[in-house]
Amino acid sequence: MVVAGGCADACSANGDGIAADSVIAAVDTERYPLDAPEGERWVDAVRRARAELAADGCCVLRGFLRDSALETLRAEGVALAPRAYYTVERVNAYNISLDTALPEDHPGRVVLERGNAFVARDLIPAETLIQRLYTSTVFQRFVADCFGLAELHEFTDPLAGLCLNVVAPGMSHPWHFDTNEFTVSMLTQLPDAGGVFEYCPAIRSKQAENFDDVRAVLEGRGEGLIRRLDLRPGDLQLFQGRFSLHRVSPVHGETQRHTAIFAYSETTGVIGTAERSRQLFGRVLPEHLDRAQAVRGDRLLD
Ligand SMILES: [Fe+2]
Repeated sequence: MVVAGGCADACSANGDGIAADSVIAAVDTERYPLDAPEGERWVDAVRRARAELAADGCCVLRGFLRDSALETLRAEGVALAPRAYYTVERVNAYNISLDTALPEDHPGRVVLERGNAFVARDLIPAETLIQRLYTSTVFQRFVADCFGLAELHEFTDPLAGLCLNVVAPGMSHPWHFDTNEFTVSMLTQLPDAGGVFEYCPAIRSKQAENFDDVRAVLEGRGEGLIRRLDLRPGDLQLFQGRFSLHRVSPVHGETQRHTAIFAYSETTGVIGTAERSRQLFGRVLPEHLDRAQAVRGDRLLD
């Protein structure tokens, strides 16, 4: 198992024994033994996670963080949220241009409003719990093992690897597919109401887009295809979002919904496009402009 960092400032925490210890202290190691890699209980936890992922592409590791860490987690999100890039954007589920020429009945023609906001990685201090988790080598090793991967890498993208996803009251993160094949995330603050994670397991595959089913969900006719998660702060969610259409339903009440998104890749050097960076973060860095053509394992729409 090999892990590699992609962020010079945040990764300094990796070699720091105190930082590593503080990550272990925050995790419920009775249930998720990050303090004993490859031990019997580690193997058991990994086996359970793999079984859930194999069943429907989603696994929730309940209570991954100890209760004592939850207030830190919540307070970090609250402090970071004002730094998010707030905009309401008209999108489609494939995150391709709305001008793209598509057949009349193509689900990419369904226009949605994306009202969630992202705090970019370079605005999240290295000492925060979410940044220490994201860069922790033992956390990465555990996550990779759960996904059955030999290797796992942080994004090289200075903005997109770790984000705080903020969904304010009245907003939603509408139906979409992820660009990456797997996502790791953790709710850090629940809203008062709404803000439910909904997903359609394996609604498409590497071989087939299944546009009819996707369109049914987008048009509100796909109830039988949708599953809903009751997520709590501190639960760790492992998700294969490239093939499972998913959304966060509209948030109600007074409180924002906050989620840390830990993006990893099987390959090194992952950097998003300039267009995507502008959409998500409102800015583009030299790394995005210099980016080589992305290496992709499929020909699906983005
Ligand atoms: Fe997503």
